[in-house]
Amino acid sequence: MTFWHERWKTEQIGWHRDSFNDMLTKHWGNINAVKGCEVLVPLCGKSLDMVWLANQGNNVIGMEFVSDAIQAFFKENRLNPLTTVNRNYTQHQSKPFTILEGDIFELESNVVQADAWYDRAAMVAIEPSLRKAYVDQLRKATKNDAVGLMITYTNPQQGMDGPPYSLTDEDVAKLFSEGFEWKCLEKISLDPPNESDPNSPTSTVFEIRRAPRIT
Ligand SMILES: C[S@@+](CC[C@H](N)C(=O)[O-])C[C@H]1O[C@@H](n2cnc3c(N)ncnc32)[C@H](O)[C@@H]1O
Repeated sequence: MTFWHERWKTEQIGWHRDSFNDMLTKHWGNINAVKGCEVLVPLCGKSLDMVWLANQGNNVIGMEFVSDAIQAFFKENRLNPLTTVNRNYTQHQSKPFTILEGDIFELESNVVQADAWYDRAAMVAIEPSLRKAYVDQLRKATKNDAVGLMITYTNPQQGMDGPPYSLTDEDVAKLFSEGFEWKCLEKISLDPPNESDPNSPTSTVFEIRRAPRIT
């Protein structure tokens, strides 16, 4: 059993929020994703943000490898998904939601070709050594002109402990330096009384857009 399966089994899911994410509702309109598009939510858990994205008229494709999380999402939203088993993943669908049960790193090309993606507590949840592979998977699962909204977590004092693993703005710039363009939309302090302290934790909201490679 993985760390994540254990966390879901024992209901230690402190990252889950019972309300829509403020940064999503504030900034989704700023990234100009086509209305009514297909939005990928990698490492989705049972996030209510998927409901908000669907409420905007989008089709939502979540990816999650813990079955308990997926069952909880559909049950808590009173939906009865249709389940089909494929080679590397099991698909659970109740339109406009599709959740693929499987490991994001095993997702093959052309299973998903999303127009947009939303990353909250996803890249920061994976081990830093897998970040580049995660970006490669995002590239595989999105269209050439796809746009993403990503919310990071940076804790300068944390070192390599996690999850969540601290992800700096410089890390984001480096990880998305090839085939993407990125823009910082907002940076907030996660410890407002100490916001002038450069060692206090922050969160940055990025717009990330796939861009043709310049050779
Ligand atoms: C920190 S939680 C965040 C969930 C969601 N994004 C949210 O904001 O509530 C990370 C989720 O990713 C899932 N996960 C971790 N590694 C994964 C992988 N390799 N493939 C698919 N899901 C994964 C975990 O089971 C967990 O539900």
